[in-house]
Amino acid sequence: MTAIAIIELDAAAASAAIADLTEILSDCVAGGASVGFMNWNGAADYDRYWRDVIAGVAGGQIVLLGARSADGLVGTAQLHLIGKPNQPHRAEIAKVLVHSRARRQGLGEALMRKAEAVAREKGRDLLVLDTDEAGAARRLYARLGWTELGTIPRYALMPDGAFCGSTFFYKDLA
Ligand SMILES: CC(C)(COP(=O)(O)OP(=O)(O)OC[C@H]1O[C@@H](n2cnc3c(N)ncnc32)[C@H](O)[C@@H]1OP(=O)(O)O)[C@@H](O)C(=O)NCCC(=O)NCCS
Repeated sequence: MTAIAIIELDAAAASAAIADLTEILSDCVAGGASVGFMNWNGAADYDRYWRDVIAGVAGGQIVLLGARSADGLVGTAQLHLIGKPNQPHRAEIAKVLVHSRARRQGLGEALMRKAEAVAREKGRDLLVLDTDEAGAARRLYARLGWTELGTIPRYALMPDGAFCGSTFFYKDLA
């Protein structure tokens, strides 16, 4: 079995890993995942996106995780620390992505467990997320004890332009 390491990427490490992060994200989009991008998006769009994330990491609003296997960086996830004064206990999990060549080995689960552990460390004990209603992630979150709230139809687009619903979850760690 391949050894898996879930690591926290600071801004410098993330900057050095932009090519790998883009490869993971663009592979998910090419595979039909509704994760914020369309089929026609290109390198410049991904580069801009990751630079914005890295600014959030540098500013302390985002915790960026990476999943390493023997194959290198093959997965990532984000914890967004909500900055509103009235929600100091809340965080959002976003962009849980595993490269298609590394799926079904437990990396998605390991990323989620680490994101939840980091949230606890940071005093964030109410977590929310949403995901494409038809994707594999919905099963992952249910398996990890997240509560499914419901699906908003036509919430977003698939990479090919078709509508997809988004299913919303929360997990109360308190
Ligand atoms: C959702 C996603 C992150 C899951 O990543 P993953 O690394 O495959 O997740 P896991 O390996 O933990 O679990 C996936 C499946 O593999 C199974 N599995 C885990 N380890 C396994 C092993 N060693 N052998 C066989 N099966 C295994 C799990 O039981 C699970 O099964 P299920 O889908 O039938 O419920 C991945 O499919 C992905 O990146 N999808 C595209 C992007 C996306 O939609 N992300 C969500 C955005 S919110």
